[in-house]
Amino acid sequence: MSARQYTERLQLQQTPFYFYDMDLLRRTLEEALRESSRYGFKVHYALKANFDERIVREIIRTGCGIDCVSGNEVRMAIECGCPASEVVYAGVGKSDKEIRYALQQDIFAFNVESLHELEIINALAGEAGRKARIALRINPNVDPRTHRYISTGQSESKFGISYTEVNAAIASLASLPNVEIVGLHFHVGSQILDMSVFENLCHRVNDIKSWFEEQGIRLRHINLGGGLGVDYYHPDRHPVADFASYFALVNRLLKVDAGQTVHFELGRSLVAQCGELITRVLYNKQTASGTRIAVVDGGMNDLMRPALYQAYHKIENLTSSGPVESYMIVGPICESADVFGRDVELPATGRGDLLSLRTAGAYGMSMASRYNMQDLPGAVYSDRL
Ligand code: LLP
Repeated sequence: MSARQYTERLQLQQTPFYFYDMDLLRRTLEEALRESSRYGFKVHYALKANFDERIVREIIRTGCGIDCVSGNEVRMAIECGCPASEVVYAGVGKSDKEIRYALQQDIFAFNVESLHELEIINALAGEAGRKARIALRINPNVDPRTHRYISTGQSESKFGISYTEVNAAIASLASLPNVEIVGLHFHVGSQILDMSVFENLCHRVNDIKSWFEEQGIRLRHINLGGGLGVDYYHPDRHPVADFASYFALVNRLLKVDAGQTVHFELGRSLVAQCGELITRVLYNKQTASGTRIAVVDGGMNDLMRPALYQAYHKIENLTSSGPVESYMIVGPICESADVFGRDVELPATGRGDLLSLRTAGAYGMSMASRYNMQDLPGAVYSDRL
């Protein structure tokens, strides 16, 4: 149930805060795992989307592995009960300290993003007396048709090993005794709703995979990354992402050999819809041309997506039932980018009203900062009100 059902109790909380609908989280996880397990697919949760401890523990409890992009994320995953054997670790800039830590934990696999990194992991694994399991993250040059800041798999992107270097990677593997290649990894972008992107990805992966196999490299794991999008415009109509179509498509198009496991790293689609940012209206004012402004106590430091990606989050007034007016909703931060929405139609909105920014469970709290020395937003859970 969305925050609207709990408005009375939420009134008492210190704003701004993230509200999490734990039933919706559980329902989403159930659906994702039901649909993926039809085909024997393994889901890892991309921890970067939200590292709230309760949420992470819930996700691990349901049986997801974890996809990490820093040593601290690896630590969090393990501390929250994820077996190291279910942790994958990507990132273009893993530090020596982070690599050493992940080696010591004996994680399932490093998703390696450059030849140089491959050599460093080999050296550090040698020092540690270990053999590192690695998957090569290949940049497949697939256009995800999403915002350019969240596109990661095109040829000029900083992520992954370019197809022009794949030969060199294979050649160097032979001379690196402390790394063992267990698979390939891909991730082309985020908030992907156009299923043809995943179709293109599957076709590219089939080509790349068979090319590796022709070189005599046995691949036990194929990791397609994350990226499945959610409906920011209609969170109540589509509270759960379309896992059924997504996994069915991959099952139909990806060529999987006997003994090969297909992995996913889902972030947004698991946690976006269960979270809302709840903020309180402080002031009303108008611009010279008469635009009505409502100033709220949450800002771009709490939810950065509108400022950074011009992202849309549905805004609702939980406490007013007055006549509908159009508002610009702005936060307190000293930046003109600190605007949550323009031309937002809301019932008459004034001081003390609670507003909800929907679909904020992914990349909301995890990207929050203390800019302007604001406090970090709190967290309120539907099952602990
Ligand atoms: N795997 C890798 C290697 C990734 O880089 C990402 C996300 C994921 C998996 C999870 O992708 P998802 O299923 O969440 O789409 N802050 C941005 C999104 C950045 C995504 C970064 N990488 C936003 O708020 O839209």
